[in-house]
Amino acid sequence: MPPDTVQNSTSVPSKKGSPAQKNTMATIDGNAIARQIIQEVREKVASLAPLVPHVVFIRIGEDPASISYVSKKQKTAAEVGIKSTLEVFPPSISREELLARIGTLNADPSVHGILVQAPLPPQLNATEVFNHIRPQKDVDGFTSTSLGCLAQELPNAFPACTPAGIVELLKRTGTPIAGKHAVVVGRSLIVGKPVALLLLAKGNDATVTLCHSRTRNLADLTRQADILIAATGKPNLITANMVKEGAVVIDVGVNRVPDATKKNGYRLVGDVDFENVAPKTALITPVPGGVGPMTVAMLMRNTLAAALASPL
Ligand code: GUN
Repeated sequence: MPPDTVQNSTSVPSKKGSPAQKNTMATIDGNAIARQIIQEVREKVASLAPLVPHVVFIRIGEDPASISYVSKKQKTAAEVGIKSTLEVFPPSISREELLARIGTLNADPSVHGILVQAPLPPQLNATEVFNHIRPQKDVDGFTSTSLGCLAQELPNAFPACTPAGIVELLKRTGTPIAGKHAVVVGRSLIVGKPVALLLLAKGNDATVTLCHSRTRNLADLTRQADILIAATGKPNLITANMVKEGAVVIDVGVNRVPDATKKNGYRLVGDVDFENVAPKTALITPVPGGVGPMTVAMLMRNTLAAALASPL
């Protein structure tokens, strides 16, 4: 595995009376891997001049997490030479108004990618909104067409960014996937379902178990995982007794928990009890700095691909 993408092997604290054991656990540096991809995209974008890929971000309302995510996406787009436009609508926007705006962007040849940041206000049906985006501009990979292409293993659609980022993290850290048992916890449209399909696809060839909130004996299943992917939005759901020694653990959770010692009053934690799980693992992603930066990097890659596929 490339040494600059994996941080510091650690020593496991010794048990009473026994010498400290050296464990092979290492933290995956998602920022470093994302930087490699961003550099690759930047070089490719530069070679396209005078074509400038253009992505439109639609944000509805003032959800602080959404503001932060979209701002990071815009900042990275600027870094790689992708043009981005932000359109902000009030939470009261009607279904008709939003669908009409997406329709206009669909028809605009100067726009290569469209992303509607989730979550959406309750009067809007997220599936309907995502499905209104032309598949050729669906850089998020959330439309029925994109997900259907993933299921049918057709290359002519964009993979969802977080799932694609997870598989890229595994590949770039030299983690074997073929024949391994990947257990995915969480069945969301954004992560759980598409990452299960991607790991299962020919070429990746994992054996996949997809768990969710109604799964019985969750720990019995997660303990079988060679690769464990937690995407539930439940802080510290995955505890040390749920993880096999030497597993690779990918934590997709980004949960704000109150922390009076922090200036902003909260800290970010994943779905995995990092402190206690990490010493058992071969590789683990931290939160923040693991999967998050990969989502943005893969969005840049999808936007580049959308621009390349569009007529000049
Ligand atoms: N909300 C949280 N993650 C995502 C994402 O990857 N794309 C969109 N559109 N919304 C999100």
